[in-house]
Amino acid sequence: MQQGDALSNDVSRLLNQHNTAVALHACGDLHTHLISQCCNSAQAIKQLAVAPCCYHLTADDIYQPLSKAEQGSLLSLDRQDLKIPLQETVTGGQRVSRLRDIELHWRLSFDFLRQSLTGETRYKPLPAFPKKLLSGEFNDFVLWTLINRELLSDNHDSDNLPFNEREMSQALTEGAEKLLVVRKLEWLQSHFRRVLEIWLVADRAYAIVDSGSHRIFSK
Ligand SMILES: C[S@@+](CC[C@H](N)C(=O)[O-])C[C@H]1O[C@@H](n2cnc3c(N)ncnc32)[C@H](O)[C@@H]1O
Repeated sequence: MQQGDALSNDVSRLLNQHNTAVALHACGDLHTHLISQCCNSAQAIKQLAVAPCCYHLTADDIYQPLSKAEQGSLLSLDRQDLKIPLQETVTGGQRVSRLRDIELHWRLSFDFLRQSLTGETRYKPLPAFPKKLLSGEFNDFVLWTLINRELLSDNHDSDNLPFNEREMSQALTEGAEKLLVVRKLEWLQSHFRRVLEIWLVADRAYAIVDSGSHRIFSK
């Protein structure tokens, strides 16, 4: 087995009739670049085994189809659209999906508090945070987030937050209402999940056909 850098043109030295190129769960540009390398290589390879993932992890702001058929398409996909096929949770179970609900609810609720504190009215996504916070209280999550956002100094604790009980509970209510709207939008998007993934996978397959599979593969 030889490891190659899928993003480097140097990987072409590994692409020959004795080698099978394998890229499992290769994110975005990793697998598209490898496929393009195989298509453009002067030498045929033995086989190519690719399991694409994370279509949105790409340098292009707008998706650039690989195949002639899809280059003619009017579909214009940005990174947010390219995340849609990944939205289906096939692993994880009930606990994971319950924590994901809490996370989204608290993120949205926190945003109401942040807006009232800063006067900013646009939603500002939070960075990743320690997931153990989700098993605790909303107050502790708010404290961690305010400190992380440098809206509070780190000598505070969750008993002296700059919000009273009524404001905290109102934020949770507003967050719950927003969560409902988000879930409805996700439901709408979910109908495009499968068809979009098939479109993206077909684009990769057509790119190989365009380059002539008899030329790319040694047998
Ligand atoms: C989502 S993980 C998949 C890991 C494993 N193949 C699997 O299926 O579970 C993506 C992998 O791509 C590797 N990777 C990142 N950049 C790379 C590059 N430029 N060339 C090749 N592999 C790379 C990472 O080290 C990581 O192991």
